[in-house]
Amino acid sequence: MRIGVLTGGGDCPGLNAVIRAVARRSWAAGHEVVGVREGWRGMVEQNFEPLGREQISGILPRGGTIIGTSRTNPYKVDGGVDAVRAAFEHVDALVAIGGEDTLGVAARLFADFGAPVVGVPKTIDNDLSGTDYTFGFDTAVAICTEAIDRLHTTAESHNRVMVVEVMGRHTGWIAVHSGIAGGADVILIPEQPVDYEEVCGEIRSRHAKGKNFSIVVVSEGCELPGAEDKGEVDQFGHRLLAKRGVGERLGEEIEARTGFETRVTVLGHTQRGGSPTARDRILATRFGLKAADLIHAGEYGKMAALRGDDVVAVSLEDATAELKTVPSEWYDVARAFFG
Ligand code: F6P
Repeated sequence: MRIGVLTGGGDCPGLNAVIRAVARRSWAAGHEVVGVREGWRGMVEQNFEPLGREQISGILPRGGTIIGTSRTNPYKVDGGVDAVRAAFEHVDALVAIGGEDTLGVAARLFADFGAPVVGVPKTIDNDLSGTDYTFGFDTAVAICTEAIDRLHTTAESHNRVMVVEVMGRHTGWIAVHSGIAGGADVILIPEQPVDYEEVCGEIRSRHAKGKNFSIVVVSEGCELPGAEDKGEVDQFGHRLLAKRGVGERLGEEIEARTGFETRVTVLGHTQRGGSPTARDRILATRFGLKAADLIHAGEYGKMAALRGDDVVAVSLEDATAELKTVPSEWYDVARAFFG
C-alpha cells in the first residue's frame, strides 16, 4: 500500500514525531509512505514527496513539519474535492494530522465518498473533542509557564501589572493551564464573560494586601466589553481575531482604571515553535503508531485519541462535531488563586 501523510493548519511541536511513527510502523508492515506537501493543498495539487529513511532520520525532536502545512480547505477551492478524489488514485490511504479544520475536511471526505483517511489530533489549542489531550498543547503550556515565571520577577521589580496574551483561538485551555502553573493573579478565557471592574477589583485587592505587582493571563479569543466584531471569517468560517489584540486593549483599560503601570506581552508564535516536550513527543509517537495501525487494518474514518492513559480510535465525525471548551470546573481551579 502507498500511504500519504499530510499536516494541516497551524504547525505545532510533535508533528514530525507523528510522521516518523507513521513511517516506521508502516514500513514494518511492508507499506510505502509519501509526504503530501502543505496540507490539503498538496492533495488538491497532487504534490507528493518521498518519505524514506533519509527524510525521517533525526526528526523526532524537531519542531515544525518537514512536509509543510497550509490552511487550504478543498471545499472552498473550485474543483477542490474532485481534485482530492483524483489524488487518491496515487495514494491508497491517507493520514491527516490536524486540528478541527483539517480533520473536519477528512471527516467530510470520508462521509462524501468513503475517502480512505484516518486522523491524528494536533493543536496547541487542545480544543478537539474526542481526545483528552492533543499533542503540542503540553509544549505550548510549558513555554507560556516559563514566560509567566520570567514576567513575575520583572513585574515585581517595577511594581507593574503584566498582561500576558496567549494563544488558544476560541478556547482558553492554554490560558487556564499556564495561568495555574505560573500562578497568575487573574486569568481570562473566551468561555467566561470579561468584566473590567471585576478584573480591576482583583488587582486592587491584591495590591491592598501588600503585593505591588500582578500577572494577568488573557486568552487571545476573549471578547472584551465594547469591542467591535467586524464579522470577518476565515476559509473555515471561524471569526477572525482582532488585529490589535486583546492583551493590548486589556492592558490600556487596566492602567486607566487602576492607575497601576501596566505592560503587555504577546507570546504569539513562540508558543508553537521549537522542540516538543518529552510528553508531546511520546503522545505524538503513540498517535502515529495508532494511525498506521488503523490504516493497516482498513479502519478508515477514525481518529487516534487519548482516553485516560489509552490511545484508542474514535470516529472522525464525532471528534470534529464540536469544539472542546474549558468547563467551569477547570476555571474554578484557576479562580481559587485570583486576587
Ligand atoms: O490553532 C493554532 C493557533 O496557533 C491558534 O492558537 C492561533 O489563533 C492561530 O493558530 C494562529 O494562526 P496563524 O499561525 O495562521 O497566525
